[in-house]
Amino acid sequence: MYRTHTCGELTLNSVGEYVTLCGWVQRVRDKGGLIWIDLRDRYGITQLILEEGKSNQEIIDKAKKLGREFVVKVSGNVIERASKNPKMTTGDIEIFVDTIEIVNQSKLPPFTIEDQTDGGDELRMKYRYLDLRRTPVKNNLMLRHRIAIETRNYLDKQNFIEVETPVLMKSTPEGARDFVVPSRMSPGEFYALPQSPQTFKQLLMVAGFDCYYQIVKCFRDEDLRADRQPEFTQIDCEMSFVDQDDILNTFEGLIKYLFKTVKQIEFAEIFPRMTFDDAMRFYGSDKPDIRFGMTFVELNDLVRGFGFKVFDEAELIVGINVHGCADYTRKQIDQLTEFVKKPQIGASGLIYVRYNIDETVKSSVDKFFNEEQLKKWVHLFNSKPGDLILILAGASLLTRKALGSLRLEMADRLGLRNPDVFAPLWVVDFPLLEWDEEEMRYFAMHHPFTSPKFNDIDLLDTDPSKVHANAYDLVINGVEIGGGSIRIFDKLLQQKMFQVLGFTQEEAQNQFGFLMNAFEYGAPPHGGIALGFDRLVSLFGGSDSIRDFIAFPKNNAGRDVMIDAPSQIAKKQLDELGLIVVQKGK
Ligand code: AMO
Repeated sequence: MYRTHTCGELTLNSVGEYVTLCGWVQRVRDKGGLIWIDLRDRYGITQLILEEGKSNQEIIDKAKKLGREFVVKVSGNVIERASKNPKMTTGDIEIFVDTIEIVNQSKLPPFTIEDQTDGGDELRMKYRYLDLRRTPVKNNLMLRHRIAIETRNYLDKQNFIEVETPVLMKSTPEGARDFVVPSRMSPGEFYALPQSPQTFKQLLMVAGFDCYYQIVKCFRDEDLRADRQPEFTQIDCEMSFVDQDDILNTFEGLIKYLFKTVKQIEFAEIFPRMTFDDAMRFYGSDKPDIRFGMTFVELNDLVRGFGFKVFDEAELIVGINVHGCADYTRKQIDQLTEFVKKPQIGASGLIYVRYNIDETVKSSVDKFFNEEQLKKWVHLFNSKPGDLILILAGASLLTRKALGSLRLEMADRLGLRNPDVFAPLWVVDFPLLEWDEEEMRYFAMHHPFTSPKFNDIDLLDTDPSKVHANAYDLVINGVEIGGGSIRIFDKLLQQKMFQVLGFTQEEAQNQFGFLMNAFEYGAPPHGGIALGFDRLVSLFGGSDSIRDFIAFPKNNAGRDVMIDAPSQIAKKQLDELGLIVVQKGK
């Protein structure tokens, strides 16, 4: 037997027992007559002790040779510690070592394997198996496991069954870029890895599996960010004979259940529901962070016609009231101006009004607006003495989005985005389509299988931009945790949708004929949702970066630096696949 106990379980109750533990040497402290060793495994750390004079000299000599991360098997008696450590489960005891067996040696690890490490990001990724030994990273994976188990428990109780769908599937032209896989047996032809199991789950509905789910890998070849990986995991779900409310209630139930079982947080109220139009109008984002206020106030009618060109020529003039920041210095305001002028934000400038504690008003547009006029603004914003009003002007959509970014920036500066507070909401009634100026055509805002709202179907012919969709997103703390929709289940409407998206009938048949054909064999009304599992776990773990919650993630360039992938393949493999690699630029 390798071990009688783990390194995380012995307490005063075991004093006097003779035990055997296995694990990794985290640290050896040699204090002259006494040697302490911290022995670590997945379950915790147990302190070992040896004493000159009392312990066998041969064992002492062996202990002194132990290096960091050596794998050892140790036996000895559990004794009460002289100085206890209340922060550790095993902090009341230590093992008086009787035998030590070095099971395996270790090279000196490239960074310290402790909660606080000296290893940089890239190094820790290269030696991810060592990074995973660290308690915070290990705890992240345990959290992931717990959420997966509880998700399965909940969905199983609600009659959902987990069905696996293919990983080698067909390339589809919508959404992100596909990862493709060449086929040896069909030279010149390619599979694509699924961006999501969307079409398969709809086919499962046609097959009669009315409540489906799958915790499933998805693959998207897109630019990476803190909350995006090229391969990520969804809790993917679909239901038949349901309307939008049924789906929102079922998955609100899942989220509440997870918060309760995993984080002991109860949500008594139903999650707020906000239309896409309101989310954009009041927060400048389709994923508003509603942990704090600073909702938008529009000023168009109040400020035009005073000779200030920026306002007179702007499509939209809109601002936020920032509580308690009237004393922002010139330098701080300049920083905010630089922030909104960054190319990715795109505003042309920032206008401010200070509503000072003494109730005087000072603005960057005093030349055009007198105190009486500015007081009207202050009134409209419901500002209190000491507040700062920040205003942007320009084209509607760009200005709203820019102010949305400024709102988040101010919240960060003021510490209003508390990771221990959770503010979920549903964003509903998305537009069905968005116009792409570059390609001069409509794209599906969600995906081409999303159903238009029944009353808007006629608009598909006359004004497609006005059509709303039966689509919804779950947003928590400004993060899009999930999205879904009620689907089209009628072949003719699906054909119509492809036509609006610019597909010829032949292209639509080639790409999606399998789905439209299935709709001819009794397709039930259906809809679903997919939750970003990595994002949900990192939200629960209080982090913005999903990488910390994935065992073996890719870096920002999409590389796995540990196994060095992607990498070249042998000429023989290329020949078998009938492929020739052309170097870029040649
Ligand atoms: P959607 O494309 O909105 O919907 O994806 C659902 C959720 O998956 C997460 N997500 C990601 N997480 C990490 N890295 C990525 N690259 C990434 N891309 C998406 C997000 C997102 O909300 N088939 C539809 C769902 C449906 O209609 O039922 C779909 O995939 O949290």
